[in-house]
Amino acid sequence: MSTSSPTSSTPTLSDIALRAPESGIVDIMNYGRRKGGVMPLWAGEGDLPTPAFIGKAATQSLAEGETFYTWQRGLPELREALAAYTQRLTGQALESERFFVTGSGMQSIQIALQIALDPGDAIIVPSPAWPNIVAASGLRGADVLEIAMPFVDGRFTLDMGAIEEAAKDEKTKAIFINSPSNPTGWVADLETLKAVHDLAERHDLWIIADEIYARFVFGEAGLQGSNPKRAPSFKDVDPLSSRVIYVNTMSKNWAMTGWRIGWIEAPVELGQVIENLIQYSTSGVAAFMQRAAVVALNEGDAFVDEQIARATTNRDLLAETFAPLNRLQVSAPDGAFYLFFKVLGETDTRQLARTLVDEIDVGLAPGTAFGPGGEAFLRMCFARDPEQIAEVAERIARWISISA
Ligand SMILES: Cc1ncc(COP(=O)(O)O)c(C=O)c1O
Repeated sequence: MSTSSPTSSTPTLSDIALRAPESGIVDIMNYGRRKGGVMPLWAGEGDLPTPAFIGKAATQSLAEGETFYTWQRGLPELREALAAYTQRLTGQALESERFFVTGSGMQSIQIALQIALDPGDAIIVPSPAWPNIVAASGLRGADVLEIAMPFVDGRFTLDMGAIEEAAKDEKTKAIFINSPSNPTGWVADLETLKAVHDLAERHDLWIIADEIYARFVFGEAGLQGSNPKRAPSFKDVDPLSSRVIYVNTMSKNWAMTGWRIGWIEAPVELGQVIENLIQYSTSGVAAFMQRAAVVALNEGDAFVDEQIARATTNRDLLAETFAPLNRLQVSAPDGAFYLFFKVLGETDTRQLARTLVDEIDVGLAPGTAFGPGGEAFLRMCFARDPEQIAEVAERIARWISISA
């Protein structure tokens, strides 16, 4: 049922459209961009452009006239490359029929939600969470059961008891697990993933597994003995689980945020459904972008390694610079490329993020953007040139000492 409208002249908007909230991340980006000259650490992307060899594959494809409708599920060559890449990461043999090309990680999430939820169903999302997950679930007409992650000794954990309670409701059809997490840097260990999978089996839930930051894992949090190093995955619990839908993206590993291309890995039996959902949304991803993705997957390992090395340097540098500052509550993240920290005594982080833009030209995302449990934090993306991160860390440290 439709209820209201933003202006007197437009017809009434649907309830679903009105459910889409403004993003707290976009809010601070708009604020900072108006000022100009701000170090943009508010969004989840780095400073490196896509490597030239990846872009070249796209321009070559265009020059060769690959400008026609393409496969709904993705070019066979790209699906093969995705299977081979995932196989290199996990050591598990995978058929390319499990892989589906999408128009971004975000579209992968939308499709997974369409598969799992009808309007009126509910989904469990541990919080703090990337806001788009919650908003996209709301746009599906679903109730989002945001379960606050307890913050104990500087680390977030899953509240399995609260999740079990939420799972008991017969409207609950899915659980969204993002590990390594944006924004908290939390990395689920194998035991936790197994407990979530068992719970999903007990309550017949889908698991939407967002493991897009799997390569960004630090210290002991990485799967021991894995080559290349990666975070634990639901694949280590049950490689071909019939209830796990993996959402993924080219955006982060290969610095392709602006391209809008991602993928889903799902049980082969979902193939026709996914093909249909793609047909009636984007009808497929441009062939020239897919050609670039093939090259990124097959030849991009050195670039990914470089990004991981920079993130590791920055994570350690930030932890070292901030550790002596009593007004900051901070732990080095186990994964992803965000520092999620508190400035003690500051309660309004939306205002605090604006103050940091105004006074020291540093753009951070306010914790208010990330739901229950995140309000008191700020998020800094550190996928960037270490010299710039060192400069930002100094500016924040100086600001903290004079603003106390
Ligand atoms: C946890 C998580 N999932 C999915 C995405 C989607 O990535 P994209 O839509 O850029 O492919 C992001 C982007 O920031 C993210 O942080």
